[in-house]
Amino acid sequence: MRGCPCLVALPYFCSMVIDIISVVPELLESPFSHSILQRAREKGLLNIRLHPLRQWAVNAYGQVDDYAFGGGAGMVLMCEPLVRAIEALSAEGAYDEVIYLTPDGERFDQQTANRLSLKGRLLMICGHYKGIDQRVRDGWVTMELSIGDYVLSGGELAAAVVADAIGRLLPGVLNDETSALTDSFQDNLLAPPVYTRPVDFRDRKVPDVLVSGDHKKIEEWRQEESLRRTKEKRPDLQG
Ligand code: ADE
Repeated sequence: MRGCPCLVALPYFCSMVIDIISVVPELLESPFSHSILQRAREKGLLNIRLHPLRQWAVNAYGQVDDYAFGGGAGMVLMCEPLVRAIEALSAEGAYDEVIYLTPDGERFDQQTANRLSLKGRLLMICGHYKGIDQRVRDGWVTMELSIGDYVLSGGELAAAVVADAIGRLLPGVLNDETSALTDSFQDNLLAPPVYTRPVDFRDRKVPDVLVSGDHKKIEEWRQEESLRRTKEKRPDLQG
């Protein structure tokens, strides 16, 4: 593994490889080092590798950015380090998608997560400052994703969101194999409410049907609640 010492090198038989190029890879260490994604990595189902862009810097000072032609505030990540990074990493095997995280990309959603979870090798590029040189987007990037209509200080948190949403869908990652199918958005429906013990908490009771033991009725109730919630909170999902 190149770069970040904190993510442990994992076996190459992993079902999915996600390589992430970043100027601040430290920002990405924690999201993949706990809970479900950590377990996925340990099981060899997901290999997330962080690659500090500065190892492909244009000079000994570690330069990877420069002023924007035409003026204006903010630096731009240069072509050369990015393309050298993409080429070096692609030499280990072609990528199914080279994804640039950017607020002007296509809106990331559950359908895109589903589609990407079927791929084998993904490369993500995190922008910083004013973004990356347009020529890299034109010539090397195959997909541009935004996680929402707001601007983050860099693409790292967006990459973490996308990698998490994809990683949890990989077969064997979730304990209950079917649980991803009942997530919100999987049928353009929000998930129904959930409860756990105690049945009565300060006079707030769990709906009777959920403790009835009648699985058919429970399923019907969940379906109705999903529809009701979706209508109330996200009517746009129903078209
Ligand atoms: N980089 C900065 N803001 C972003 C966003 N909203 N989505 C994806 N990448 C970003």
